[in-house]
Amino acid sequence: MSARSLTPGSARQNSLSFAVIVLAAGEGKRFRSSKPKVLHALCGAPLLGHVLSAIEPLAATKTVVVVGRAADEVKAVAKGLTRRKLSFAIQAEQLGTADAARIGDEALGSFDGAVLIVPGDIPLITTETLQALIDHHRASKAAATVLTAELDDPTGYGRVIRTGHGAVERIVEETDATPDERNTTEVNSSVWVFDRAALRSALTRIERVNAQKEFYLTDVVAVLREKGEQVEAHTTPGPTEILGVNSRVQLADVAALMRRRIAERHMLAGVTIIDPATTFIDSTVEIGPDSTLHPLTHLHGRTTIGAACEIGPNVKLVDTVVGDNATVINAVANEAKIGPSAQVGPFTYLRPGAVLAEGAKAGTYVEVKKSVIGKGSKVPHLSYIGDAEIGANVNIGAGTITCNYDGETGKKSKTVIGDDVLIGSDTMLVAPVRVGRGAVTGAGSVVSRDIPAGQVAVGAPARPVRKRRSKPTAKKKGEHRK
Ligand code: UD1
Ligand code: CA
Repeated sequence: MSARSLTPGSARQNSLSFAVIVLAAGEGKRFRSSKPKVLHALCGAPLLGHVLSAIEPLAATKTVVVVGRAADEVKAVAKGLTRRKLSFAIQAEQLGTADAARIGDEALGSFDGAVLIVPGDIPLITTETLQALIDHHRASKAAATVLTAELDDPTGYGRVIRTGHGAVERIVEETDATPDERNTTEVNSSVWVFDRAALRSALTRIERVNAQKEFYLTDVVAVLREKGEQVEAHTTPGPTEILGVNSRVQLADVAALMRRRIAERHMLAGVTIIDPATTFIDSTVEIGPDSTLHPLTHLHGRTTIGAACEIGPNVKLVDTVVGDNATVINAVANEAKIGPSAQVGPFTYLRPGAVLAEGAKAGTYVEVKKSVIGKGSKVPHLSYIGDAEIGANVNIGAGTITCNYDGETGKKSKTVIGDDVLIGSDTMLVAPVRVGRGAVTGAGSVVSRDIPAGQVAVGAPARPVRKRRSKPTAKKKGEHRK
């Protein structure tokens, strides 16, 4: 009686539940890094994060991540990369993919059903392809189904050797392949679906008889076939999906493909990207329709861009929110909020807590930190605005500085500027200080005392000089006397 009749396909397929084992314990030797390979970033997420994101919608019964190198670090990061609950299994010694699969399998306990195995270093893999593989496996009732791809350049991958009838006979690693076998362009993706019982029994029979002296998961094909089990192959229509990242060269190659994929998603949703090859958008970024991204735009983390914005050239935004119709040119922003129709740049640095209200402007050589610039207010040139609250319709003259830092105690103090204020060029606002609504400061003033609403302050130190007769925002000649 063959082994196959002991675990007939029909019995196997009674359960539609499946579990996932992610292999992420490898040393990543070819990366030459002090950081585990699967934690290296690609378009804003670790390699492992992309794999977990592809798995997440499949709703597996259980997901086990096999960790080894820097296990605690990988575990801690992995938990934050998916909404699914993860279990972890430790592979103390990296003895090969079959050993890792065995350790992952042990963590599945009494689970019965299909087991999807995915390596942690194939970040381009999609949910659709994983689902198609599972569907193929279920339909064929095979003991194992391996995801394969036709690559123009199969260098470095395990080659899929088929029988004369087209069935998968075995998989041979490049280091163990004959020159003839190396000519095969069909490669193993290292993504598998197994019937759990078949996987368990096959894993016990794998030996370390190969160039690398490792337990190869690829050897299950020959083992299962010897037992009379059926092994299927499912070939991806898009071969690049299965590309593995073993070195930083491959990381760069895969990043270029990932960036193109992200850019295409946005372009198809109505975003103009002048040059996708020089535009860097993390997978987490959102962009509204009719916005235009110019070359050398870098959008990272939880950045969101509204509709009809002009972003770039030369812009780096990290965790920054941009409202509709805003313009950002030659600027760096980190944890900032740029309101609708606001203008930023060229050459502007917005630091955490910088908030530009609707129609506000932060212009050339302007740095803003932890400050609100009110509706329609402008900081056009050469200013540092820190720890400030600026009201609406304020104009800040060129070269104005909020002196927020007291060098002796290290304390940061606030500057509060009311609506309709006109700050003259080169004003030093020595915080803590308040400038009342509609007040004016003369060019070169050092303002170290509060200025009441509607007054003009000039000189150093500033003091109120006289009431202004004109409208607060309309400065008259001759008012800026010492
Ligand atoms: C593997 C396959 C190869 C396939 C390629 C696709 C084997 C023997 N080879 O080769 O046929 O073409 O993937 O990308 O399966 N890992 C562990 N523990 C270990 C060893 C590896 O967890 O002891 C993990 C790694 O972290 C990695 C994955 O398994 O995520 C694959 O290991 P890797 O060393 O990258 O295998 P490849 O040489 O790429
Ligand atoms: Ca690999």
